Amino acid sequence: MTDPIEARPTPWQTVLLLCGKCARKMDGGYGPEKKQTLRSALRSELKAQGHGRSVRIIETRCMGLCPKKAVTALNASAPTRLLTIPRGTPVVEALAQVMAPRG
Ligand code: FES
Repeated sequence: MTDPIEARPTPWQTVLLLCGKCARKMDGGYGPEKKQTLRSALRSELKAQGHGRSVRIIETRCMGLCPKKAVTALNASAPTRLLTIPRGTPVVEALAQVMAPRG
């Protein structure tokens, strides 16, 4: 007999997917000195805005868009809207775009 499927609560209200392969193709590119990855720049900004654990960022494999000098990102609540966030985008702007479920 197999074990039963279990469910656990999470503190997450938003799940953001970032392409890890896009990130690996660039050496940083975001944050004040353009040395941070998009993931770590977004994480710092989320913390600064008081969204500690309510936002989960997950790095994925290639999402098939493969932009040049940008990272593909998706808000899991809005799967019909794939974003490409160019290298050097101010992190506040990147976060505002990726957090907006539509628009
Ligand atoms: S490498 Fe990032 S979308 Fe393909």
